[in-house]
Amino acid sequence: MSEIAFLLNGAPVRVQADPTRTLLDWLREDRRLTGTKEGCNEGDCGACTVMVTDADGPKTLNACILLLPQLHGKAVRTVEGITGPEGQLHPVQEAMIAHHGSQCGFCTPGFVVSMAVAHKLGRQDFDDQLAGNLCRCTGYAPIIRAAEAASDAPVPEWLDDPLPEVAPLPFRPETADELADWYLAHPDATLIAGATDVGLWVTKELRNLAPVAFLNGVRDLRGVAVTEDAIRIGACVTISELGRVIAPHFGGFAELIRRYGSVQVRNAATIGGNIANGSPIGDSPPALIALGAVLHLRRGTERRSLPLEEFFLDYRKQDRQPGEFVEAVTIPRQPDRLACYKLSKRFDQDISAVCGCFNVTVVDGVVTAARIAFGGMAGIPKRAAATERALIGQPWSEATISAAQAALELDFTPMSDMRASAAYRTEAAKGMLMRYFLQPRPVLEVGA
Ligand SMILES: Cc1cc2nc3c(=O)[nH]c(=O)nc-3n(C[C@H](O)[C@H](O)[C@H](O)COP(=O)(O)OP(=O)(O)OC[C@H]3O[C@@H](n4cnc5c(N)ncnc54)[C@H](O)[C@@H]3O)c2cc1C
Ligand code: FES
Ligand code: FES
Repeated sequence: MSEIAFLLNGAPVRVQADPTRTLLDWLREDRRLTGTKEGCNEGDCGACTVMVTDADGPKTLNACILLLPQLHGKAVRTVEGITGPEGQLHPVQEAMIAHHGSQCGFCTPGFVVSMAVAHKLGRQDFDDQLAGNLCRCTGYAPIIRAAEAASDAPVPEWLDDPLPEVAPLPFRPETADELADWYLAHPDATLIAGATDVGLWVTKELRNLAPVAFLNGVRDLRGVAVTEDAIRIGACVTISELGRVIAPHFGGFAELIRRYGSVQVRNAATIGGNIANGSPIGDSPPALIALGAVLHLRRGTERRSLPLEEFFLDYRKQDRQPGEFVEAVTIPRQPDRLACYKLSKRFDQDISAVCGCFNVTVVDGVVTAARIAFGGMAGIPKRAAATERALIGQPWSEATISAAQAALELDFTPMSDMRASAAYRTEAAKGMLMRYFLQPRPVLEVGA
């Protein structure tokens, strides 16, 4: 147990808590703040949405998979604190009433928090901002109308929370050096970054994770450095931030990120966690592999780098030693030829059945380079080596694409599961290759 300190609805709180206690349980059980609802308890429905402000500003997060130490030094507002100190309604609450945005009301607190944060940030892309909030009765049109109606109202000043000064926590290192020393001494520990995977081990699998270390305080794992040669992304950069940074360089990657979970999930999840978990259906690895990304690992004072595709050895088996962690990933600068296609049952907030990422260079009508990677087609995110060979040196033509589609069957023997059958996955992957051919926009003709 350690003392965790943060602001709750404007008032300082200090909590002695198990490091794997979720904010949702603590709010409802210990503080009786029951406006924050428990729906799915796995980050899918947004009923538990809270506003969390840190040095980067306010954001929405799902309290059900948010562990108390992740809040150290931050400011939290639940739906009770979106309302003003004298009970004044926030403009989005007024608008929800005026536009009949609530029926049973179970989802309403989560929607109101998401709407209030979007309102504070001046965001008007309401379909995206509210995609992580599910409503089973009202239908979304009145809710979107309410968000639109409130958008011009001034932001209530009570939402401007100062950040509290806090003492360091023993299991929350502040530098990569501290983390490296600690992890070397505790190689069996669980590292927790955004907790969008680890939170479910707590809420759904009731796993005891001790000892744990929280990475969200590690300053030097957070930045993005864009140089002439490369874009270096720290392991603790969130998927939301990655989307913002990558958009001017690789539009297709940013579009893929828009389809990654929901705003709440992207605000928590990190690129390091998305790589280190080794999931065969993680969305960023195929895009990064197609871009030729290099992974940087660290164990104590030893550092090594490897092409990202070499990190994934087998299903849930990665080239990572005990005590070794992901420090960063680097994307070489290059013209934007990348296209990413995510196939899932829902457009928003769904895991990929197949995710195909294509990066092909064509010079004077002939393919000179190709990097193609898929998620959902094997036990790991995997490069399509035979497909690439079938393309390189060939004219960029439909006949070449047909040959490369046949080669795809040599690269992958996908499995059937609840998301898709093996045959469907293979056909979908072939279709994505043809789509890349038929959508010439990202394929730049370099040369004469
Ligand atoms: C509702 C919901 C929707 C989702 N949708 C998507 C989606 O659309 N696409 C997708 O790809 N994923 C999705 N995910 C999965 C999840 O968001 C990602 O895998 C996420 O990137 C994990 O990052 P994290 O920071 O939350 O990791 P955590 O949960 O903190 O950690 C995950 C694993 O990585 C390890 N780890 C974390 N950081 C490091 C590091 N720096 N070095 C070594 N090990 C580390 C942890 O120990 C743990 O084993 C979804 C999850 C939820 C709950
Ligand atoms: S309860 Fe569903 S996202 Fe938290
Ligand atoms: S009003 Fe009932 S779930 Fe949204």
